[in-house]
Amino acid sequence: MKQKILSALQQTDNYLSGEALSAQLGITRSAVWKHIRALKTEGYDIDSVTNRGYRLVNKPDLLQYDAIISRLHTHTIGTKLLLFRTIDSTNDELKRQAREGAPGGLVTAAEVQTAGRGRFQRSWSSGADGGLYFSFMLRPELPPADMAPITLAAGYAVCLAIREYTGIDARIKWPNDIIAGSRKLCGILTEMAAQSDRIDYLITGIGINVNNEHFPEELRSKATSLKIESGKAFDRSDFLVFVLQKLDLIIGQFPEAISPDNIEHFKSLCATIGRRVTVQKGSAVITGTACDLSPSGDLIVQSDDGQRVLVNSGEVTVQGIY
Ligand code: BTN
Repeated sequence: MKQKILSALQQTDNYLSGEALSAQLGITRSAVWKHIRALKTEGYDIDSVTNRGYRLVNKPDLLQYDAIISRLHTHTIGTKLLLFRTIDSTNDELKRQAREGAPGGLVTAAEVQTAGRGRFQRSWSSGADGGLYFSFMLRPELPPADMAPITLAAGYAVCLAIREYTGIDARIKWPNDIIAGSRKLCGILTEMAAQSDRIDYLITGIGINVNNEHFPEELRSKATSLKIESGKAFDRSDFLVFVLQKLDLIIGQFPEAISPDNIEHFKSLCATIGRRVTVQKGSAVITGTACDLSPSGDLIVQSDDGQRVLVNSGEVTVQGIY
């Protein structure tokens, strides 16, 4: 009901009377007032004027559980959501939940992470700075090797979501970054617990720079945000729903998501292909040109010494991108 009142207030710049709201929603005027009071404690700035009613002046820039849940209609990812103001890492919280038997589909999201992590044990800056930090957990009945391209599929889904939601020309930096121009918009970290033949749980954590305006000194030349690229701020709850729905659509078809058709789609959005790259593979360093993706999503590099090298992990440095 609170959500319905909020929607009604959001649809107009004018005052809505308590009487009109109570008639429209079939509740008493004092119930309307109770919900307005609850919205105010959540940070909504609602002006109330005798004989005129209520008007929404400002929305808080906080993830809103009710707003997310009421719009989220997914089958696989986001069947349940845990939202935190502060957590160490949404990946770590999901790990704890998974170990306690939580079902696949669970999503954790947080306003602030005190120990946000990236790949290669790097830290992931996660203050209350307009970023979006969330993770989803799956329990696929597949051997661990089959899940390798999940990060690529997740990156593709997030890339599509960003393109459709914001109009930004976002691209995939293989395997797990989303970029705009030569700067990073989003990073993805997949972790799993598995036996030799069976996955116990798989966790994919996603950090997207949404409304960030400033970055720490060391990231300034490498990072950008949806707001910086488009000049507009976005409602992060609404955007989270959009991204989860896209992930659900694409990851929900996994492993069929890695079909030849989809690999062609990934390729069309992959900024790495056609560029000069350096790949750290174990102790070897390979330089060459990224030329293709394999049917399972590995990067194919034409090395300078004339070999076609399949890259499925390791650190790839792409010339011209941070
Ligand atoms: C990378 O680019 O190296 C991956 C960054 C992944 C960051 C996200 S934020 C949500 C989730 N929780 C974490 O601790 N990390 C991931």
